[in-house]
Amino acid sequence: MTTQPWSKSNWREKPRVQMPDYADAAALAEVEAQLGKYPPLVFAGEARRLRDELAAASRGEAFLLQGGDCAESFAEFSADTIRDTFKVMLQMAMVLTYGAKVPVVKVGRMAGQFAKPRSAPTEVVDGVEMPSYKGDIINDIAPTLEARSPNPMRMLQAYTQAAASLNLLRAFSTGGFADIHRVHSWTLGFTDGDDAERYRDLANRIQDSLDFMTAAGLTGDTNHELSTVDFYTSHEALLLEYEEALCRLDSTSGKWLAGSGHMIWIGDRTRQPDGAHVEFCRGVQNPIGLKCGPSTTAEDLKVLMAKLNPANQAGRLTLIARFGAGKVGDHLPRLIKTVQEEGANVLWCCDPMHGNVIKSSTGYKTRPFDSILREVQEFFGIHRAEGTVPGGVHFEMTGKDVTECTGGMRALSDEDLSSRYHTACDPRLNASQSLELAFLVAEELQQSRDALRAAG
Ligand code: PEP
Ligand code: CO
Repeated sequence: MTTQPWSKSNWREKPRVQMPDYADAAALAEVEAQLGKYPPLVFAGEARRLRDELAAASRGEAFLLQGGDCAESFAEFSADTIRDTFKVMLQMAMVLTYGAKVPVVKVGRMAGQFAKPRSAPTEVVDGVEMPSYKGDIINDIAPTLEARSPNPMRMLQAYTQAAASLNLLRAFSTGGFADIHRVHSWTLGFTDGDDAERYRDLANRIQDSLDFMTAAGLTGDTNHELSTVDFYTSHEALLLEYEEALCRLDSTSGKWLAGSGHMIWIGDRTRQPDGAHVEFCRGVQNPIGLKCGPSTTAEDLKVLMAKLNPANQAGRLTLIARFGAGKVGDHLPRLIKTVQEEGANVLWCCDPMHGNVIKSSTGYKTRPFDSILREVQEFFGIHRAEGTVPGGVHFEMTGKDVTECTGGMRALSDEDLSSRYHTACDPRLNASQSLELAFLVAEELQQSRDALRAAG
């Protein structure tokens, strides 16, 4: 395939889907010019380091944990919300590291996850047809025609919130909070069930090892790895005006960088090989995620891999599989085969959330914990059978004690959902369900590791 020249605004000539039509073109242009002058949120060296870590995950030498809100919201923005999601991700990473015995690459759906694709462009509320809510960067969730009208000024607020979130995440990562010697202090107040007990046991075992290491002279002062973590940000690159405005030329490499976050992904609804989203993403050097669903064909995947990763660089492309429990066997093997036929380097990651949305008997959009777990198990089982690497997991989750997904150790029922259903979009795992899932994923990882050992 001949590679067409790329520029950060070429996507404008391609068919676009899921993006808003702004009524006021002058206001949009003004916002884009303003954002274009603001500093990028991330630096190219960080994106390259993440790429190297994802390359390691694609070889089974690391494991990707990607997680956070379905949609970040302006109203829920607070230090506590960020801290609690960060905390539960540290706990999960600890559990996974212990099980897999490889480093866990931590990537938040945070500091930029504001734009949502929707299955229908409009909805009817109380007899009035209005645009669907598309995420706080585009419109307001309140069900009025005025609130739902896309407003470009919201991009400036999203930028500000992303910058402040990233600032806090960087402070938590390197300022002592994430020091492994604090492994006990990451527990959240309300997680007091069996999952918390299990985490405390594990933390005790880690504490033992740390005491041994300290006695041997290895401390956080002498070993930076023990006192800090690398934490990266990611979001769906849906709103291309925002992405283009934050796109910057990196003087070190002479390559373009999406300055909006470390990793960006292309959604299941925006992955048309000749569409605007693929066009934008192919030209930036950030690691790229590509959602793969039941409708992903081998033909499309071949073209997408060639376009998004022409140099076949390891760590550049993560395929995020989201088929739904019971359907992984119909789709994952055929796509693994396509990847193998092309000799493509990819990282396989499992998103057990987006294929498992159902409507509860009480009317809420929910996801049963058992379906989420089953999709994860199917994903791991197929990779074991194929001899390929299950490289990561992708969750919609929060550190808050919400009631949005049913099931889990505390057996949340359809009736419980109304109690703390706070998501701006899809239902998230709460802190306790997230931790429980991490233990179950760790078991799968251990099994895969044992199987590889036995084989080899
Ligand atoms: C998402 O990750 O929030 C999302 C909308 O996923 P998908 O594109 O896989 O449906
Ligand atoms: Co979602």
